[in-house]
Amino acid sequence: MITIALSKGRIFKETLPLLAAADIVSAEDPESSRKLILDTNHEDIKLLIIRATDVPTYVQFGAADLGVAGKDVLMEHGGEGLYELVDLNIAKCRLMTAGLVGQAAPVNGRLRIATKFVNVAKQYFESRGEQVEVIKLYGSMELGPIVGLADLIVDVVDTGNTLKANGLEPRDHIADISSRLVVNRASMKMKHQQISNIIDNIRAAVANA
Ligand code: ATP
Ligand code: PRP
Repeated sequence: MITIALSKGRIFKETLPLLAAADIVSAEDPESSRKLILDTNHEDIKLLIIRATDVPTYVQFGAADLGVAGKDVLMEHGGEGLYELVDLNIAKCRLMTAGLVGQAAPVNGRLRIATKFVNVAKQYFESRGEQVEVIKLYGSMELGPIVGLADLIVDVVDTGNTLKANGLEPRDHIADISSRLVVNRASMKMKHQQISNIIDNIRAAVANA
């Protein structure tokens, strides 16, 4: 059995054509099904539908053999127990800091940073020699600076529309983001033939996309 962990929405939609090129077709659409384990056209390949942030954890512990996760989520997780094999070139965005339009950072005192990427934010500001206080949020980060919870946020930016709609502006670029195919280290050894096959086909699909 091979299991592939995917999150609903953008990643599932953009991964579908790549999986199809590897002859893996989901029997159901996760947007309309309540099932968390989806059958495919192969009896021995199943798709696990989980939160985007949880994909590296499932793959790390071998609860899924393969997974698709954003580089942002992988950076935050740290990558322990998994191999990052293919840049799928999908769900592209940028990890950035952002603040209220025209508002300079306070000169005195520690900057407060609201984000769901706590580890990434700590490492980023530490590498710049800046002492910050990082506040963990699970969503709607853009609210942070508006209501005085934080001076800056760290979040993914694509068009910039979400920032703009909330009176924020992008500041520093932290990393370019796209989704990656990851594999559990033990699965890579134990199920080498089957997994290599899938990886090769997906690699070819990405090259031809
Ligand atoms: P969770 O549900 O675990 O909080 P999420 O809501 O961030 O995760 P998605 O919005 O589906 O999950 O995002 C999945 C991945 O897609 C992110 O990890 C990121 O790499 C990428 N992504 C997020 N927002 C955008 C965007 N606006 N444009 C392009 N890619 C994006
Ligand atoms: C993501 C992210 C930003 C937004 C950036 O949210 O959290 O808020 O996209 O994209 P933009 O620069 O094009 O506006 P998403 O749309 O995935 O909503 P969610 O985080 O609530 O799932």
